[in-house]
Amino acid sequence: MQTHEIRERFTQHFVQSGHEAVPSASLILDDPNLLFVNAGMVPFKPYFLGQQNPPFPQGKATSIQKCVRTLDIEEVGITTRHNTFFQMAGNFSFGQYFKKGAIEQAWSLLTGDVEQGGYGLDPERLWVTVYLDDDEAAEIWEQHIGVPSERIQRLGMADNYWSMGIPGPCGPCSEIYYDRGPEYGKEGGPIADDNRYMEIWNLVFMEKERGEGIGKGNFEILGDLPKKNIDTGLGVERVACILQGVDNVYETDLLRPVIDVAEEVTGTKYEDPDTDRINDIRFRVIADHSRTAMMIILDGVTPGNVGRGYILRRLLRRIIRSARLLGAQGKTMERFMNTIMDTMTPSYPEIAEQRERILKVALAEETAFLRTLESGTHLFEQAAGQVKAQGGATLSGQEAFTLHDTYGFPIDLTLEMASEAGLKVDEEGFHKLMAEQVARAKADSQAKKHGHADLSVYRQFVDEHPTEFTGFEELNSNSKVLGLIRDGQQVQEAAEGDEVEVILDVTPLYAESGGQLGDRGTIEAGGTVLRVGDVQKVGKKLWVHKATVEQGGLIVGDDVQALVDPAWRHAARQAHSATHLIHAALREVLGPTAVQAGSMNKPGYLRFDFNYTDALSPQQLEQIQAISNQAVDADWQVNTIETSLEEAKAMGAMALFGENYGEVVRVVEIGGPFSMELCGGTHVSHSSQIGPVAVLGESSVGSGVRRIEAYSGLDSFRYLSKERALVEGVASSLKAKSEEVPERVAALTQKLKEAEKTIAELHRKQLLSGTAEMLAGAEDVAGVQFVHQQLPKGTEAKDLRTLATDLKQKLGGAPGVVVLGAEDARSRVPFVVGVTKVAIDQGLSAKELAAVVGQYVNGNGGGKADMAQGSGAQIGGFSQAVAAVREALNS
Ligand code: SER
Repeated sequence: MQTHEIRERFTQHFVQSGHEAVPSASLILDDPNLLFVNAGMVPFKPYFLGQQNPPFPQGKATSIQKCVRTLDIEEVGITTRHNTFFQMAGNFSFGQYFKKGAIEQAWSLLTGDVEQGGYGLDPERLWVTVYLDDDEAAEIWEQHIGVPSERIQRLGMADNYWSMGIPGPCGPCSEIYYDRGPEYGKEGGPIADDNRYMEIWNLVFMEKERGEGIGKGNFEILGDLPKKNIDTGLGVERVACILQGVDNVYETDLLRPVIDVAEEVTGTKYEDPDTDRINDIRFRVIADHSRTAMMIILDGVTPGNVGRGYILRRLLRRIIRSARLLGAQGKTMERFMNTIMDTMTPSYPEIAEQRERILKVALAEETAFLRTLESGTHLFEQAAGQVKAQGGATLSGQEAFTLHDTYGFPIDLTLEMASEAGLKVDEEGFHKLMAEQVARAKADSQAKKHGHADLSVYRQFVDEHPTEFTGFEELNSNSKVLGLIRDGQQVQEAAEGDEVEVILDVTPLYAESGGQLGDRGTIEAGGTVLRVGDVQKVGKKLWVHKATVEQGGLIVGDDVQALVDPAWRHAARQAHSATHLIHAALREVLGPTAVQAGSMNKPGYLRFDFNYTDALSPQQLEQIQAISNQAVDADWQVNTIETSLEEAKAMGAMALFGENYGEVVRVVEIGGPFSMELCGGTHVSHSSQIGPVAVLGESSVGSGVRRIEAYSGLDSFRYLSKERALVEGVASSLKAKSEEVPERVAALTQKLKEAEKTIAELHRKQLLSGTAEMLAGAEDVAGVQFVHQQLPKGTEAKDLRTLATDLKQKLGGAPGVVVLGAEDARSRVPFVVGVTKVAIDQGLSAKELAAVVGQYVNGNGGGKADMAQGSGAQIGGFSQAVAAVREALNS
């Protein structure tokens, strides 16, 4: 049974019993605790916690959620069942059916007749586990379903009590396993062997809320959830593995084609009995990671050095490295990506529109990494050469670590290349350095975590008093103080001079979100004035005003007026609407592959980040600026429409990530199809109110992400007028008209270049003119002509080389040694040693003498027998160096 059909059957099974089919959420949801969605229940979390009512008429839903888990990345290909990307099929009940209903429905789908829409699994092969004291679930399995008691096993908290690993909903669970037969491991059920008995479905009886704690087995239970719920997760790829009768999850219909292509491009056979098992793992890594990388790029991630971007980079690099280790010579990514896009498109039709962008991102990383590999290889060869030259046989842990850390050179490649070069690697030393680095990173991230406020102080307000936002309609609202928080603690009152966080029932002040900074304003009552310096949201619904009491005092329960600073808001609206114009203009100029990656706007200024691999040309920037200003000039009405996410997408509105199915969203429309975005921000009512938009420029903010910055409104005007003053200033010092400035500057630069060239030439001639004198001053040391000289400060390494070459030439057939040194313009001490051919024949070597000089000028040198050079730090040691060379010639 093909994976696509396994998905369809799941959905049908649950739709028939009244579940609403909900599309998969993006892999990237607005949850700071999760890099990627890692379970089917994640988008439903607020419904389980009772924070929001589920928008499903019958209180039941089903989904097939895209999930990414990269914690087990090292396991990929080694076990038979770990995919970094997988699809979790789930059914969810919000206060409707509970244990019995969940168990019955799971069983009937798994064991149901294939003709009737089931999966047709043999009931005799199914085993189940339940939580230690969950007699109720055990009884349902045994009495109601008829699973013999010896196939029902009990496990503890770590295995059969499910939570997200962080505070949130949780509960005991029951897992269903499939016995793959004796060839996969030993008898005895899931507690004996979780490879032979493969977990396929987890039924979570979500009835509790967990608090802080560590990991899976050690956390506090805060209490009951408002309702008893069901959350289940069936591993689609695992069921596919069983139903397709293949050995592991990498060989199912969706991934096997990538393995086939990998065989073709690497020239190595999968499962070749004559080659090492490690090759098979590499094939599986390529298949698994190609899919994960593709799906992550589809959802808007680009490679980078932190967070999601880093995971993507790591996946792509592991693919490239595996392919190379299997024997691939050139580029392979395009084939892998095309293949996986082909197999995944039937279930994810949106891939079709994004093919070009996905390829572009993946291929750019491949090109960059191949370059890294090249320079890494060069460095490796140097390091290996040095080890050998010193008669060693082991590359140090430090070298391996530097290759890894600085050049992104994977350790197994270093190991492989070292073994080819007949060397060992100090792996222990390498791992020690790696462990130290991980410990440093951990300490850093913990420090960051503790820097964050403890959110529990807001909890009661989030649950009981979500803030009512009135700022779309008015700038002043009458409100009541619901809470005051000082230094992370709830307090009853605040006095003059205090810095407090104020929670109001109603507020017109915008809280930072969607890239727009929070409003500034005041909270006033009688003689009391608080200045609001920032407004932040806790969760989606609680507004927290960070304020200073400037006059008077405030008590919880006080009636107050909350006022937005009108000038701030005016300019903030301009900047936010300008951001939409820039976004629309950008897509008009660059096409739809330029996907938004983030934005920030505040009064007068905006920046907009987007996924794009190339730098923008000045012409493109000019065009974007022109289109934006034409949109201002068109004086379009700005409309906001509230509708469902599905409807908004159908209208063609651009959605970022993080919106949930069923949510009511706000669409901001400027000029009809020109700009339509999901947005909760504040906007002008006509585009002309934005005022001029001045693009400042564009830059790179990480691999594949570019940033455009612009001013809006009066700030644009100020910026442009400052620019004009600058140009006028330059023009007047050039004694030219403004429009002649570029030409004049170009001519000046050209002249300067020529003058620099002439000076350099004169300098060289001057230096060379001194060679006769130097030769005349040559010492005869044991029959060798020894020419040495400290050149004037500012002489560069290349001058020394020229001079040494000339001197050597002039020494001709005589045995001669030249040692020159100087302090250059950057206070480094370059030095050069030259040895004539006859002197080499007598056993002298420039390389060895350079090593002697290096010792005295606090540096080192290297090169060949006839010419060597180096750099030191202490010119004061040069005369001693000369003496040491003299001694060496004498001995
Ligand atoms: N949330 C559970 C899991 O991820 C079941 O869906 O396993």
